[in-house]
Amino acid sequence: MPSKVFSDRLLAVLSDDLRPQAARRLAAAEPVLRRLLAGLYGERADFDAWLGDLMASLGALYAARPAELRALDAQRAAQPEWFLSQRMLGYCAYVQNFGGDLNGVAVRIPYLRELGVSYLHLLPFLRPREGENDGGFAVSSFDEVDPALGSNADLDALTAQLRVAGISLCSDFILNHVADDHAWALAAKAGDAGARAMFHVFPDRDMPDRYERTLGQVFPQVAPGNFSFVEALDGWAWTTFYPYQWDLNYANPAVFAEMAAALLRLANRGIEVFRLDSTAFLWKREGTNSMNQPEAHQLLQALRAIVDIVAPGVLLKAEAIVPTRELPAYLGSAAAPECHIAYHSSLMAAGWVALAEQDTGVLREVIRNTPALPAAATWLSYVRCHDDIGWNVLRAEASADGGDSAARLARVARFFSGAEGSYAIGAAFQSTDPNAAHGSNGMAASLTGLQSAVTEEERALALSRMLLLHGLALSFGALPVLYMGDELAMENDYSYLHRPQHAMDSRWLQRPVFDQQRWKHRYDVSTVPGAMHQALAKLVRIRSRHDALAANAPRALLTDAPDGMLALARGERFLTLMNFSGQAQTYALQGVWRDCVAEQAMSGTLVLEPYAMYWLERE
Ligand code: GLC
Repeated sequence: MPSKVFSDRLLAVLSDDLRPQAARRLAAAEPVLRRLLAGLYGERADFDAWLGDLMASLGALYAARPAELRALDAQRAAQPEWFLSQRMLGYCAYVQNFGGDLNGVAVRIPYLRELGVSYLHLLPFLRPREGENDGGFAVSSFDEVDPALGSNADLDALTAQLRVAGISLCSDFILNHVADDHAWALAAKAGDAGARAMFHVFPDRDMPDRYERTLGQVFPQVAPGNFSFVEALDGWAWTTFYPYQWDLNYANPAVFAEMAAALLRLANRGIEVFRLDSTAFLWKREGTNSMNQPEAHQLLQALRAIVDIVAPGVLLKAEAIVPTRELPAYLGSAAAPECHIAYHSSLMAAGWVALAEQDTGVLREVIRNTPALPAAATWLSYVRCHDDIGWNVLRAEASADGGDSAARLARVARFFSGAEGSYAIGAAFQSTDPNAAHGSNGMAASLTGLQSAVTEEERALALSRMLLLHGLALSFGALPVLYMGDELAMENDYSYLHRPQHAMDSRWLQRPVFDQQRWKHRYDVSTVPGAMHQALAKLVRIRSRHDALAANAPRALLTDAPDGMLALARGERFLTLMNFSGQAQTYALQGVWRDCVAEQAMSGTLVLEPYAMYWLERE
């Protein structure tokens, strides 16, 4: 059917004043959208009818988009690289831990502004499953705020207040699975065939066993296997994560249409960035690990085209914790844009490897494997997050020297669980194989030695290590995101061990409640939280003044630094030097530079004390 037929279904719903703009956006994105969806679903006899209905539903969501958000769309469409600025800074928190509820988060807006935050990722706050819910990652309703955290009206009020403060709200959009008490799951359990078809359900173990031959496991100890028998379905549901998180079947076009509409309804509430959870797992294919499949990328590109038509001010962020070589695809290309932002999990993990090994070999390899990105796309850089630091993404880089990467990464994991005389206090996350590494958990402060520090000198070293990792995230050329508590050097939280529903999942070590006492000390540099907060805030301020540090400004790895160090040039005028080792290192500067932190001129041979970092601008 000609393109016009589909475009008209969308345009028909719009008022006269909206139609010309929509027509322009459709001209740019509708052919791409139709090609992608035809590739995924075009074989079906009802494809044209389905696509027509999808366009009509997009039209209704376009019409419902509030005027102030439409204005934001127009502003951002005119400046599509707005989020690559060195003034962008992210902050991530659980609503309940940071503010108690959504209104409590609003109270903390001045604190975020003071830190320079312009992007707030609130971890899942939509209605989760009753009981265990994987920290909210098992969603029962995409249209309802978790009543424990507030109401939909509170969310609307928060997004409006954040917008006024210049902070974009980022929400998780958990599109790989829903909770087993989501309306679709309940209907499927009640015998509704249409609802059952939203999931991957198998009558017996035949197909699950065939798939299992090549699948990995995310939670091998607490949720082994990828399928769960569900009595009410009299069958096996695909459950990549916990048994109560049922994977959606994107081979069914109804799933795509429903999820796209759910995303846009949230966008119309003022959510500006969507963290697309577990994107790697969206498409299943026998004989593979069912990750990073071409169709998963087509689905994401189709979602992007839809956002570009209905809500072009909105950003999509890919959470795909996959090897470095698989990452760039999530940002797409100039011809086929996908997400705007992708977590650089390899860079994050490699920073920690550099600390453990006191050698930047793996980190340099990751940087060498990090390609230039298409326009209006960026990496997300971070020191840690609410999940474990996953080591397996570094398999390729950790064996680049010809060694055994599993053994090497397992050593790193042992280091961060405190073995072998290490300063770190953390926990090794689940692994099927005791000799292989899965991930490590712990707050940055505890993993860098603050919790184990006894002397002033040890405390100072821990602070330097924390700042070093933050300095890497801030200066790499990315959208950096701080994780709540790290700015105040908060340590591990062991309270999860007393909560039966969390005790088996050590990721809760790094999910503490915001520490009001530390917060009160944030200006007092004689205290640890104050020293951390002020030093970090200073780096943020310096970064915001240097466009050489923008996400899309050039970056070059310098090869003349010793193995324990990392030297990154940001264009001709900015240089960061980082010592990841416990030994002093020297570096010969060419020309005269200015230390942006100490505010003094530097030249000649520079000595970097253990874990020291310099941010230098050319004089
Ligand atoms: C993502 C989340 C993680 C969650 C998983 C399943 O990886 O970051 O916390 O357990 O998805 O939703």
